[in-house]
Amino acid sequence: MDHPQAAAGHLVNRPRRLRLNAGIRKLVCENALSPNDLIYPLFVRHATSDGGPRPIVSMPGQSQWPLARIADEAQSVHDLGIPAVILFGIPDAKDSCGTENYSPDGIVPTAIRMIKQAVPDLVVMSDMCFCEYTDHGHCGIINRPDDATHYDPAMPEGYLLNDPTLDLLAKASVAHAEAGADVIAPSGMIDGMVTVIRQALDGAGFDQTSIMSYAAKYSSGFYGPFRDAAESPPSFGDRSQYQMDMGNRREALKEMALDVEQGADVLMVKPALAYLDIISDARANFDLPIAAYQVSGEYSMLHAAAERDWLDLKRTAIESLTAIKRAGADMILTYFAKDAVGWLASG
Ligand code: PBG
Repeated sequence: MDHPQAAAGHLVNRPRRLRLNAGIRKLVCENALSPNDLIYPLFVRHATSDGGPRPIVSMPGQSQWPLARIADEAQSVHDLGIPAVILFGIPDAKDSCGTENYSPDGIVPTAIRMIKQAVPDLVVMSDMCFCEYTDHGHCGIINRPDDATHYDPAMPEGYLLNDPTLDLLAKASVAHAEAGADVIAPSGMIDGMVTVIRQALDGAGFDQTSIMSYAAKYSSGFYGPFRDAAESPPSFGDRSQYQMDMGNRREALKEMALDVEQGADVLMVKPALAYLDIISDARANFDLPIAAYQVSGEYSMLHAAAERDWLDLKRTAIESLTAIKRAGADMILTYFAKDAVGWLASG
């Protein structure tokens, strides 16, 4: 009889042997997600109209938390075994240089103090950027003739001024560290941001405060729902003068090498799923821990498809997170963190 196996000769290699049952599959599993890998983003504001969490419509299950509730929410994250949160603030007032970001009574420093007091073992990271705090929604100081202190006639109007923004980042980082932040996470893609933040922290006595740099952050359509969540869309233009171009791969290595030189403790790639090659490059080229940010759009699109019964939410979320880990991420910032812990426990 003409049997295909005979045609193939004696079949020694049968990879399916190692997929035969659940026990064997567990033993040979190369990358498994753990709650230890997760960082949960939290949006915090001074108050909400009814005192409860204010749902973010474009991110089902996520909310802006009023200060009065932030410590309880942080406690619930800690109780699930998630090691860290990263904070995003929605200030009461915005101005041209984002004053509330560095005011000791600003939204994030206040939230940090409340969380650290209630849940001292939870690692508190603060997203260090100005777009949530400026009235124009850009990540630093904008070049404009009516701002006599900063105006640079050599640069175009509307340009984000690099070095004046560095001064603000240094100041705000110290304010967040004084409030008790464990990790400062600069996310503005401003040249030199890690250098000045490291110097400022050390100068103020915070040499144990870590820096997780958004080292390779791309200008991305996947941040869409976040603009809703943090109420921080740019009022003109976009972020392509400071965030990276989607087509570039070598440039990510350059950005990461600079941040290593400048003293970053952790390097981040963002977004995650559409940039797995960048995560893999980061892992292969640097010894620092690598973080990846599964951003708002990555979260919302799975929810939107699952709402229509087109995808299974749990399965596709865990698959995406595992892919990000497999590519080389040691830690993942994800809005799925709390759900994922439950899903992992239920197998
Ligand atoms: C602030 C910042 C952004 C995100 C994290 N920090 C927005 C942006 O750069 O436009 C995006 C996070 C997300 O989409 O989940 N600079």
